[in-house]
Amino acid sequence: MKKEQLLGVRDLNVRYGKVEAVYRASLTVERGSIVSVIGPNGAGKSTLLNALMGVLPSLGSVEFCGRDIGRLTVEQRVGQGLCLVPETRELFAQMSVEDNLQLGAFARYRRGDKGIRQSLDEVFALFPRLEQRRTQIAGSLSGGERQMLALGRALMGRPTLLMLDEPSLGLAPLIVREILHTIGNLRSTGVSILLIEQNARAALQISDYGYVLENGEIALEGPSAELANNPRVIESYLGIGGDGAASAEDTRPTAHDQVLRLQTEDLMSFGEALSP
Ligand SMILES: Nc1ncnc2c1ncn2[C@@H]1O[C@H](COP(=O)(O)OP(=O)(O)OP(=O)(O)O)[C@@H](O)[C@H]1O
Ligand SMILES: [Mg+2]
Repeated sequence: MKKEQLLGVRDLNVRYGKVEAVYRASLTVERGSIVSVIGPNGAGKSTLLNALMGVLPSLGSVEFCGRDIGRLTVEQRVGQGLCLVPETRELFAQMSVEDNLQLGAFARYRRGDKGIRQSLDEVFALFPRLEQRRTQIAGSLSGGERQMLALGRALMGRPTLLMLDEPSLGLAPLIVREILHTIGNLRSTGVSILLIEQNARAALQISDYGYVLENGEIALEGPSAELANNPRVIESYLGIGGDGAASAEDTRPTAHDQVLRLQTEDLMSFGEALSP
């Protein structure tokens, strides 16, 4: 059976002034699949998602559900079924968990959609912890719970394509595993997912297909299992001896740690060069 293309991006270019942050990026998301984009800090991953959402202007073609959406506004793209959970989560800190979730369904409410109550129950079934904390204000949730709320709120809008910008950022390893496991299970709800992750090992484990973004360009792509066995991916993103399997106990440095370490080493040698 031929798979149906949901999102088709061709030669996407995004620039900040003179700086080319994404260059000729092409990628595809098939309906019902999870696609991951991995890459180091500053590679252009968030820029890519923001451009697809229409938050940033871009050149190139973006087709969604067979329609060219490249000229649509953010609101129009949301209306077409696109949803972005940004790195910053953007929850309403002073509002309760349940009100944050209800707000995720606001556009459906305006359309007179009667299924919102059922969606709320589905989100609570996915994240029982949110149900236990339904009256608690969002600002008092733990980091992991906040991420669950951000995911839950996005799901309340019934998106066709969910774009997640580093859902594991800043979370403890066990919570990372729980969140990514839940994201993997979202496939069964019918939603398609474009997942941006620093945690390459876990991202490749839960996704069907993967892209490696380096310096704004797609450097490698392939089925996730193949990428996880690619020596270059192992060396750069999975750590020496990586086997592509996600592990909560994994203490090997992530790409993020490596970049931080390199920056620290740079600074130290810079300091040494300056000292008499
Ligand atoms: N508003 C901006 N103005 C100018 N340059 C920007 C802006 N936002 C991002 N950049 C630059 O664009 C490049 C890509 O940034 P981006 O945030 O997309 O990277 P990323 O892959 O998401 O990184 P990270 O893993 O750290 O989140 C970086 O060099 C960054 O400094
Ligand atoms: Mg980013």
